[in-house]
Amino acid sequence: MRMRKKKHLDERLAACASVNLGWLPDAVHNDGNADRTSSAEIFGNDNPLRLEIGCGKGKFANTIAGRHPDINFIAVEQTPNVIVSAMEQTIEQKLGNLRYFMGNAEYLPKVLPADCIECIYLNFSCPFPKTKYAKHRLTSERFLPIYRELLINGGVILQKTDNRDFFDYSLESLKKGGFELRYVTRDLHNSEVKGNIITEYEQRFLSQGLPIYYLEAVNRK
Ligand SMILES: C[S@@+](CC[C@H](N)C(=O)[O-])C[C@H]1O[C@@H](n2cnc3c(N)ncnc32)[C@H](O)[C@@H]1O
Repeated sequence: MRMRKKKHLDERLAACASVNLGWLPDAVHNDGNADRTSSAEIFGNDNPLRLEIGCGKGKFANTIAGRHPDINFIAVEQTPNVIVSAMEQTIEQKLGNLRYFMGNAEYLPKVLPADCIECIYLNFSCPFPKTKYAKHRLTSERFLPIYRELLINGGVILQKTDNRDFFDYSLESLKKGGFELRYVTRDLHNSEVKGNIITEYEQRFLSQGLPIYYLEAVNRK
């Protein structure tokens, strides 16, 4: 079923043009190619680039970009109803180092050059528990080659989830996909990890007393 369009969504998106890099499928030409844009062209500087996939309403992206003005961030989200709130927050906070792509992350290699990202955040990605939909999991074998292409050598994937089965699946998938597991905990909030930024979904799970699973996986080329 198609989600009902949020009231005034088009007007709100239009007002966010300064931080919106557009729809990913629209950036791809009929021949399947697109014009890849470097981080320097997008942000006007050579600062390192990080990516969040599935940013939702953008609490994490806006907080981390605010904390690190010398790092550039791109956040991707396929649901316009929520990404618009993230964009509005970026404008409100006057953040020059955070931009957004709308659409499915599978198109990212068409619009970004290889070896351009130092870190990918996967925060509470949809677990898609049914095997039938496993290819939509953001740590499936469909997405890992995309991350390997975009990440620099030594670049990392940082994943948080409340879902144990999805976490175990991700650990196996990442190992099979050529990533080196650098750090793994099954209880992030009682671990030695410092500076964690709590996302919208994380807040919900924490208030239910659920443990948060967390991993860091390194890309070795
Ligand atoms: C469960 S929500 C988590 C939102 C946020 N990261 C948080 O922790 O509060 C997962 C989000 O990922 C988005 N998403 C899932 N698969 C995606 C894909 N292939 N490309 C872009 N966004 C995706 C969904 O639309 C959804 O908003």
